[in-house]
Amino acid sequence: MIINGKEISLKIKDKIKKEVDQISKKYNRLPKLVVILVGDDQASQTYVRNKERASQYVGIESQVIRHDSSFSEEALLAEIRQLNQDDTVDGILVQLPLPAHIDEDKVLETIDSNKDVDGFHPDNVAKLFLGQQCPVPCTPKGMMVLLDEINYDLTGKEVVVIGRSHIVGKPVAMLCLQKNATVTIAHSKTKDLPKVCQRADILIVAIGKAKMINSDYIKEGAVVLDVGINRDENNRLCGDVDFDDVKDKVYAITPVPGGIGPMTVTMLLKNTLELFYQHNQ
Ligand code: GUN
Repeated sequence: MIINGKEISLKIKDKIKKEVDQISKKYNRLPKLVVILVGDDQASQTYVRNKERASQYVGIESQVIRHDSSFSEEALLAEIRQLNQDDTVDGILVQLPLPAHIDEDKVLETIDSNKDVDGFHPDNVAKLFLGQQCPVPCTPKGMMVLLDEINYDLTGKEVVVIGRSHIVGKPVAMLCLQKNATVTIAHSKTKDLPKVCQRADILIVAIGKAKMINSDYIKEGAVVLDVGINRDENNRLCGDVDFDDVKDKVYAITPVPGGIGPMTVTMLLKNTLELFYQHNQ
């Protein structure tokens, strides 16, 4: 089975669109997301454009603030503090990575945890760890929705996550643990990675290396979620998984493009809407 993230995300976006339409009448204002982009990282520019387009599609008000790479940390923190105070703003997202002279931790801590649409604020990370309600990071949230869509019960299943980032690896491991899976987080220093991966009923791959995971890493009948967005030797988009090599061995797999990517953007809209409700309680 090829998991069609694009189609599933469209279905969810249409639901959000209807909801936004109704609430805008009831509350007399639209949910609003502010995205801050510092610098000219090509991938970030694309991601931010996708976020802007998706917001427009569902009717969420979106504002993208762009700064060149010399923008100071101090000015960025001041801008965030101002947005924290602005009652018309429901969600604040600072696109990562930031230029080297800006302290990422300081920036994420400065965002009001009640407007932290990425779920990256330490208070929200702690809540996720404790299993309390909080904005859940978008890519991991999207993966859990996809597993739900294919009616996959994680109870007692072996999950192997490759990658230990704060954005994907660590939070998705926590979410799988909450669903009663047995979770392993593997990374660049893991010994005998193919052997570790072979025990996975669900293999979550977030490495950032084009087509690194071939069928030697895959257990027959596994579910494979590919977070990678890379260019192959022909400059075509591809994942961290060698799709053609593993597709006949798996039970289900997300393609690149059209798998995890669209779900991430859609979960950002969902998180914005959830924060809007929270601010209007
Ligand atoms: N850069 C790559 N993924 C993400 C994400 O989910 N959120 C933010 N803010 N930056 C990112």
